[in-house]
This record gives sequence, C-alpha cells and structure tokens, in this order.
Amino acid sequence: MPLSNCRRIDLPKISDQRGNLTFVEGDVHIPFSVKRVYYLYDVPGGSDRGAHAHKNLHQFMICMSGSFDLLLNDGTKEQRFHLNRSYYGIYICPMMWRYLDNFSSGAVCMVMASERYDEDDYIRDWGEYCAAVGAV
Ligand code: TYD
Repeated sequence: MPLSNCRRIDLPKISDQRGNLTFVEGDVHIPFSVKRVYYLYDVPGGSDRGAHAHKNLHQFMICMSGSFDLLLNDGTKEQRFHLNRSYYGIYICPMMWRYLDNFSSGAVCMVMASERYDEDDYIRDWGEYCAAVGAV
C-alpha cells in the first residue's frame, strides 16, 4: 500500500470551561475496528522505537502528552509527522515501515490496533521489507 493511504485524522473535540474531551469510534473516525490498545511512555530522551512494518495490521497513533515524530516509509517515499496534540492522530495502513523518534520528556504515544498482538505479523528487517514491497 502506498504512503498516500496513511493520513492525519482530526478527531471530534468537545471543549468547555472544564477542559477538552476527544473520542474515537472504530469504523467511524478510523477505518477499522479496534481490538487492541497499547501505549509508550517513560521513553528516555534520545530513544527511538518502531523500525518495522506490519503485514496486515491497521493502526491509529495519537500523542496523548508531550510530542514525538513519526516517520513513515513505503520503500519509495518517506513522510515525517510531528505529533503534539491529542485531538488528531495518524492512520497507518498495513505494510508501512514506521520509525518513532524525537520524544519529548513526558511523551505518551497511544496506538489503537485492528488485531491482537502477533509477532508473525511483523517485518523487522528493512531489506526484507523492501523486497516485500518491490522496492529493491
Ligand atoms: P514493538 O512493537 O517492537 O515496540 P516498538 O515498535 O514500540 O519499538 O514491541 C516491543 C515488545 O513488546 C516486543 O517484545 C513485543 C511486545 N509487545 C507485546 O507483547 N504486545 C503488544 O501489543 C506490543 C505492541 C508489543
């Protein structure tokens, strides 16, 4: 799938004097139903995460606090997203190489996923990924 399938999705934001409320409904705001949620937190400065692709998994990534960068690469094109607000997220389609860096202190990255955890769904080798997407 090309990088153009991935995109920023702005979420509803209900604001009043008490603060903001944002919600995500599977198959409504994001193009899949959610089977799993995980989050990254207490990320040490200078750390990077990701550096892999998923064969079949759809994901939606939100920065819940702080900031970080998400780099997406489809073997041909690359796009860097800076995430620093919790009223939008990035939809990541299957077969997309992702890399996360530039975590601020206190950054929290929440990910909604279309499937349960399955190590067999990962491609962790860049060469293998390029071969799989025909980008050798
Ligand atoms: P990984 O997806 O490689 O982390 P990241 O992309 O953030 O660098 O996962 C790190 C470890 O956590 C790996 O051993 C698999 C495990 N893990 C689970 O057991 N369940 C999960 O839902 C996730 C996302 C990871």
